[in-house]
Amino acid sequence: MPEGTRPGGPTRRRVLGIAGALGAMAAGGLTAGAALARRPAATGAELRSAVPLPPPYRVPLPLPAVLAPVGRAGGTDRYEIVQREAAAEILPGVRTPLWTYGGTFPGPTVESRRGRPVTVTHRNELPVPTVVHLHGGRTPADSDGYPTDLVLPRPGRAAAPAGHGGGADHGGGAHGGGAHPMRDPRAVVTELTRAYTFPLDQRPALLWYHDHRMDFTGPAVWRGLAGLHVVRDDAEEALGLPAGPRELPLVLTDRAFAADGSFAYPSLDPALTARPGVEEPYLGGVLGDTILVNGAPWPVHETDAARHRLRILNASNARHYLLEAVDDTTGRRLDLVQTGADQGLLAAPVTHTRLPLAPAERYDVVLDLSGVRVGGLVRIVNRLGSGRTRDVLAFRVARKARDDSRVPAVLSTDLPDWRRADAVRVRDLAFRAGRTGEDGRHGWLIGGRAFDPARTDVTVRLGDVEVWRLIADVHHPVHLHLAGFRILSRGGGPPLPHDAGLKDTVSLRPGESAEIITRFDGYRGRYLFHCHNAEHEDMGMMANLEVV
Ligand code: C2O
Ligand code: CU
Ligand code: CU
Repeated sequence: MPEGTRPGGPTRRRVLGIAGALGAMAAGGLTAGAALARRPAATGAELRSAVPLPPPYRVPLPLPAVLAPVGRAGGTDRYEIVQREAAAEILPGVRTPLWTYGGTFPGPTVESRRGRPVTVTHRNELPVPTVVHLHGGRTPADSDGYPTDLVLPRPGRAAAPAGHGGGADHGGGAHGGGAHPMRDPRAVVTELTRAYTFPLDQRPALLWYHDHRMDFTGPAVWRGLAGLHVVRDDAEEALGLPAGPRELPLVLTDRAFAADGSFAYPSLDPALTARPGVEEPYLGGVLGDTILVNGAPWPVHETDAARHRLRILNASNARHYLLEAVDDTTGRRLDLVQTGADQGLLAAPVTHTRLPLAPAERYDVVLDLSGVRVGGLVRIVNRLGSGRTRDVLAFRVARKARDDSRVPAVLSTDLPDWRRADAVRVRDLAFRAGRTGEDGRHGWLIGGRAFDPARTDVTVRLGDVEVWRLIADVHHPVHLHLAGFRILSRGGGPPLPHDAGLKDTVSLRPGESAEIITRFDGYRGRYLFHCHNAEHEDMGMMANLEVV
């Protein structure tokens, strides 16, 4: 198929489908080093929108609304979110139906304080079961959003029958092996609503909440089920980092639009109830041709010539970014001064000229616009993109302004400092494509196995320090629930500059290995680790972690 001739068809420019990526590694018996040298920009295939796309930097950057609590009694902040269908005008003159938290995409932002518990009661008015996970949360297992802990929609609302009463059935799922439904006896299924409790006894950080239903996380997040959750504390606020209107959350997603204005997604089952997975060209991941920031296409933010704290989340299913800030007037690149990682503040700032972001990663970055001329434009571009996906967003400097913010040389002193010698165990975990199920269909595997909620893959003891050696065939952003980790090494060498701090997601590039170290702290119970390429996750690349 010639490139770009069919609306909704994949483009293969600078992206490599799974067949290509694996072929490149397998065919010539490429060494890891050679695979690294020939590393493609992304793993996945790009959908092409069937409606005209607007020029960049016309719509203002929207900021997700901050959710008001319904109560603050008893030392707990209580919130309510209704999961429902809504529509938004994302492209001018085009109506896009969405699945939302509270009617917007992204959903409302939950603002919380370290150590002050939050309860969020979700009500499911969508046509499918849902599960909410607080990504990066140090959360007891019963509120962590295990993929079979379903919140069922109102009877009659569901598009297809779902599991009932203390267990979840997965009829004909990819992991069930054809006709045998998979049952998870430990699933806790609720009808219509569920209250999730987050103790938030953790470092201040930018967390996010998103759908996590088994087999269908990718399409549900794609339709809009994602929002931010910020944890703050006094120590962070005392640093004097840019704040108020100069602290900007930036939720990066890529999407493609079908002719009817809806988000296109190549699901095998458009009802998202029976058969998981995506059509063949997209097995490596679904990429869109439109970059949305906080739900708006290539927005522009008019602001002061001052420092800004950008709190960036890559909420894309499969797209990687390599961000760069360019002053349009001078052509000069502005520094991206990293102050935080997935799990909060670094020990000290790290200056980047380019910053890579894998799916689910968060970076806290200070961008100084004080040297930009009034009227000037600073574009944030994606060096891994091509054509329209090279643009992300822009800042228009509207005025000179006073700036009392600072970037202190010491940001935090509480980062865990686990040593290799502290580890009671070293585990090897391979993230690779493979065949799965009775019919041997394509899947994504960890240690050669596809996800099965009924199997415990890794058992760790509460309080133990472990080193995990992760190895990948193609791009796999590996995410661990419950525990933040540090990156010990990458590709046998030292970590990269952007690997600093406490992480919960590590981006493995094709053929690459990395070692992470963590202490399993907090709570006992059933947790997960998985690839955060949402298509890989839905097609098996997830495993159970039992903390005992
Ligand atoms: Cu952001 Cu298990 O997920
Ligand atoms: Cu998570
Ligand atoms: Cu993956």
